[in-house]
Amino acid sequence: MNSFHRPTSFTSFIAPLEDIRAVVGIDFGTTFSGFAYANKISSVIDLHTQWPGKEREKTNTVLLYDNSCREVLKWGEPALTFGQKKNKKSIKELGSPQSPHVIERFKLHLDEKLSIGEKPWLPQNLNYKRAIIDYLKKMKGVIENTLDKRWPDLKLTQVLFVLCVPAEWGPHTKAIMRDCAYEAELLNESIESHLEFTTEPEAAALHCLSSIQEHGLTVGDTFLVVDCGGGTVDLTMRTIQMGNKLNEETERTGDLCGGTFVDQEFINFIGRTVGFNALQRLRTYAYGELQILVISFCDQIKHRFTGDPDEYETAEFDLQDICPSLINYITGAEKTILENSEWVIELDFKTLKKMFDIVINKIISRILKWTYGVEVKANFDICNDPLELRTIDNKIWKFDLLAVRGTNVSVNQKFCKEYKPLNPEQTMAVFKVYITTEYQPKYIKNENGMRLLGTLKITLSKWLSRGRDRPVEFGLTFGTMEIKATAKNKLTNETCHTTFELDIKR
Ligand SMILES: Nc1ncnc2c1ncn2[C@@H]1O[C@H](COP(=O)(O)OP(=O)(O)OP(=O)(O)O)[C@@H](O)[C@H]1O
Ligand SMILES: [Mg+2]
Repeated sequence: MNSFHRPTSFTSFIAPLEDIRAVVGIDFGTTFSGFAYANKISSVIDLHTQWPGKEREKTNTVLLYDNSCREVLKWGEPALTFGQKKNKKSIKELGSPQSPHVIERFKLHLDEKLSIGEKPWLPQNLNYKRAIIDYLKKMKGVIENTLDKRWPDLKLTQVLFVLCVPAEWGPHTKAIMRDCAYEAELLNESIESHLEFTTEPEAAALHCLSSIQEHGLTVGDTFLVVDCGGGTVDLTMRTIQMGNKLNEETERTGDLCGGTFVDQEFINFIGRTVGFNALQRLRTYAYGELQILVISFCDQIKHRFTGDPDEYETAEFDLQDICPSLINYITGAEKTILENSEWVIELDFKTLKKMFDIVINKIISRILKWTYGVEVKANFDICNDPLELRTIDNKIWKFDLLAVRGTNVSVNQKFCKEYKPLNPEQTMAVFKVYITTEYQPKYIKNENGMRLLGTLKITLSKWLSRGRDRPVEFGLTFGTMEIKATAKNKLTNETCHTTFELDIKR
């Protein structure tokens, strides 16, 4: 796109913020988008639900372009379902474009973490910014109509737009989005300041505030917001403060493991069943049918799946009904098998569960960036231990490994070991947790980033007669946001714990 005529300086034209009479919050999502609006004086927030095709909270972030990508033929859900069997005449109605293009997930082009190969396909003559602008223009049309009906006197220049964007978007990405909003004429130079950004997790957390009472949460309580979108999954911890305010505890956001990745697993399953060549031909020649297959998977199976095998009945996809073109592309062994099953593909519980598990494991699994262990005192071994580390009582401080760097840990996975006191008279055990970048550290020494993470003390049993035989179990549990260290006196079952910071790679 090369036609931005956005001014670089506009200070003298900014409309004062007092002119703003309404706020429109726009959620431009990877798979679905929508908006809500409110009047400045009332606290009622209206959610727009009248979308082309269906009544629901959001519509699909999808555009259907003509063959040359100059004209948007349809948008929202109708763009996705265009060309399906019952809608065949639609091509004629639209003036017979040779082969229209369905454009989806174009928001992911703004994701700096994705490599070019991982970004969704776009026709050569369509820039992703053009798609965003065209989509925002369509949204603007609906917003204008809606506001006009609601508040006939209101002008678009009196509206403050708040666009929520992924938390990891930097200023550069937000600037692109601002340019697109400008090109889509949500803004002009006189109301440049009428567009603000908020992050998606921020908006989600604020929304959660409205349901804290229903969950019995009060000031000081902490909750975790898990926002599973189409593209990304955001995790944010919040603590409720006085005056209905939220404090951000920890934030880890933006992993690409949202709902459409389950759809991707489903498409892979179809590929394995019909052959990947047949799937590729379907994608190339009858993309609309592939979409119908995915939509029916989402509506009838994915959205209803609870993970409980008793509630699941093996699903069936009748290709003759849903994807008739696909049948023509299937060859070889796959053809024989599917002919025998009358072109019906079955999806059993185990296969479906696996599609979810692959994505869920990505959400909940984390790779340890550090090796974790505790300091233990051992007898000095003159043959093997370095002399400079010998203590005056002829001992040595060693690193006793609990969890090694690179381990894929699931949420709340525990690593523990049993320890005994050094001396028979000892009354207290002190666990010093160290971390290091080494994979097999032997000693406690100032190398390879080794540092003390924290200390936990526990009283030992008073049964001194047992001497050193007073075991304590010490463990580290890798939670969602922190590490919990626990020590348990094995004789009395008395436990104590503390928490440490968690620094992981996702
Ligand atoms: N009941 C449900 N069970 C499972 N998945 C669902 C359910 N309802 C919606 N989804 C899936 O959630 C995803 C859409 O979520 P959402 O509308 O929050 O995404 P988005 O805002 O477009 O994406 P992002 O925030 O990543 O840009 C889709 O993959 C959809 O199929
Ligand atoms: Mg979203």
